[in-house]
Amino acid sequence: MQNFNDPSYLKQAQYRSAENLEARIRLHKQFSTNPHGVYRWFFDHALAHIPQKASILEVGSGSGELWASCKDRVPAGWDITLSDFAIGILNDAQKKLASVPFEPEYREIDVQSIPYPDESFDAVFANFMLYHVPDRDKAIAEIRRVLKPNGVVLSATLGNDHMREYNQVVYKVLFDSDFQTSIIHDQFSIENGEAQLRKSFGQVEFINYDDHLRVTEVEPMVDYFLSLALPMITSVHVEQFAETVRSIISNAGHFFIQKHTGMFIGRGYAGK
Ligand SMILES: C[S@@+](CC[C@H](N)C(=O)[O-])C[C@H]1O[C@@H](n2cnc3c(N)ncnc32)[C@H](O)[C@@H]1O
Repeated sequence: MQNFNDPSYLKQAQYRSAENLEARIRLHKQFSTNPHGVYRWFFDHALAHIPQKASILEVGSGSGELWASCKDRVPAGWDITLSDFAIGILNDAQKKLASVPFEPEYREIDVQSIPYPDESFDAVFANFMLYHVPDRDKAIAEIRRVLKPNGVVLSATLGNDHMREYNQVVYKVLFDSDFQTSIIHDQFSIENGEAQLRKSFGQVEFINYDDHLRVTEVEPMVDYFLSLALPMITSVHVEQFAETVRSIISNAGHFFIQKHTGMFIGRGYAGK
């Protein structure tokens, strides 16, 4: 089976550009039951925890959606660096954010080895990305190292039940098997993230974001499926997937999909 966290798959297929991530973001924007939006929710907490004058590093910044959706709320005193280890998606983020009213710096960075001196930043954002990272202890220690002593890490992630109903259809279509638990998100999830952060951070708080999907159109769901960017997916799989979703929507009026999203906020030093 495809290793979804293989760095070459991530850099050369999944995040070769912003296209796959943007297809997933579109579905969430269109059909989420919580109208606030996960990025705006994240930003509410960022504003509450970070001073008006601060240096901020985002690791695994992807297509820059956080900053696009909150562009009018960014304090003038924030000095922002956006980084990703996949240069393709980082370039697309730079294009997408070309006209925002602030000027981030863009850097190609693997979170497992952050090329900044100790105590460089007031805050590090690591959203929906630590589950991709092979050596997470190293990555989290690196985040702690580049944070100032009173700095804060904010890291949104997903739980084991996130998108369960969708995953059930995917597993049936692609592998003719039942879905058990996400092999991607399980690496750094709502369930196990705190224990991992506590190896480097003294205080870790968790905040839940309540949301679900009620999908009423087949095509955005097919785009979401195709965003897996797997060479093994054939037109037969796509038709089977579309047919299953079509029949769920015509029977129930919508395809209900549970989401499980939240964020960790970490401060201080482990053992202190
Ligand atoms: C699911 S996307 C999340 C993007 C963004 N943080 C967001 O919330 O929209 C995961 C991102 O993490 C990046 N990534 C994965 N492994 C990484 C690593 N070891 N170092 C830095 N970035 C990484 C990917 O290239 C991708 O852009």
